[in-house]
Amino acid sequence: MNNNPFNTASFIRPDVIGLKPYKPVVPIETLAAQLGVSPDEIIKLDANENLYGPSPRALEAVKNLRYLHIYPDPEANDLRQALSRYTGIPVDNLMVGSGADELIDMITRLFLRPGDKIINCPPTFGMYAICAGINGGQVVNVPRHTDQSLNVPAIETAIAEAAGAKLLFIPAPNNPDGSAISEAELRELLALPIVIALDEAYFEFHNRSFITWVLEHPNLIVLRTFSKWAGLAGLRVGYGAFPGAIIKHLWKIKAPYNVNVAAQAAALASLQDLDYLKANIAKITATRDKFQADLQQIPWLKAYPSYTNFVLVKALDRNAADVQSALAQEGILIRYYNSPGLQDHVRISIGTPSQMDKLIERLKKL
Ligand SMILES: Cc1ncc(COP(=O)(O)O)c(C=O)c1O
Repeated sequence: MNNNPFNTASFIRPDVIGLKPYKPVVPIETLAAQLGVSPDEIIKLDANENLYGPSPRALEAVKNLRYLHIYPDPEANDLRQALSRYTGIPVDNLMVGSGADELIDMITRLFLRPGDKIINCPPTFGMYAICAGINGGQVVNVPRHTDQSLNVPAIETAIAEAAGAKLLFIPAPNNPDGSAISEAELRELLALPIVIALDEAYFEFHNRSFITWVLEHPNLIVLRTFSKWAGLAGLRVGYGAFPGAIIKHLWKIKAPYNVNVAAQAAALASLQDLDYLKANIAKITATRDKFQADLQQIPWLKAYPSYTNFVLVKALDRNAADVQSALAQEGILIRYYNSPGLQDHVRISIGTPSQMDKLIERLKKL
């Protein structure tokens, strides 16, 4: 043991020392081992994954990879060409990331200097605040209304009052409630002096997108992912559409080999198997609608409308943490929230019809 007395922690950025550690999810194998069941028996409805999995073409593409010893294409050219056809956005305006998460991180790195601010509209996806914090930014929260809609006048006031507010992150539809943003709201926000990162992670379940607006609005970025509709969450691949004046600088800070060869191949193959994946999306949205209807038979649960592959539910006269842990004991995982605006809420991802039926049966007995 080297007994050099110098304190390495004193070199670490004080703002990072002040950050709360990220609470990682427990891997499915660990949970299965704890419950003494096989991972296949776990009903995993806690991370909005696609339980139908990837397209067979994506699996085949990964199986047939021959050049794992060669670095991936740093520009993901084949994938970006295919994405250009899929989105209608020119290749030059597209960048691929290791999940949408990496692009969220890159955007905060690109824009924020220490002390600069993002506007965040909770309840919402947690990565915006996490990435802002990691990159020295401050988070100005403008809470949503109780029906989860955006408080647009309050956002306008916050931008006017918060010197150094540069970025506004909005998922469309929103996670965790599944509500959409209207065209009028987006237009109003785009007129403000702020860059808007519209996160369309769940676009394929809603089928309404603003991605082509990127070509007309220099302050709009649209993010997407293959994690949800294409069932590739484990491979980490997402993309963004960016105005030219932003993307040319984003390339400078992108890690060269950020998207691995398996992720690029699987995403490309997914875009060549749209009929298969769209059929799964249709199954998921039909299952969601039936699940919403079934939930109405349980008087102590109130579900929010959703345009996504998940449903936010409020436990009316019960402790939602108890509901979550009772289900977890039986291998059914759902996401529990107790943050401001989400007391006694759970978010339930949509699985297969039989998984959702099992969950409903279980909930009826609680
Ligand atoms: C709104 C939103 N954006 C982004 C992500 C992350 O996407 P990715 O898996 O591509 O990093 C999620 C995942 O839950 C999400 O809900």
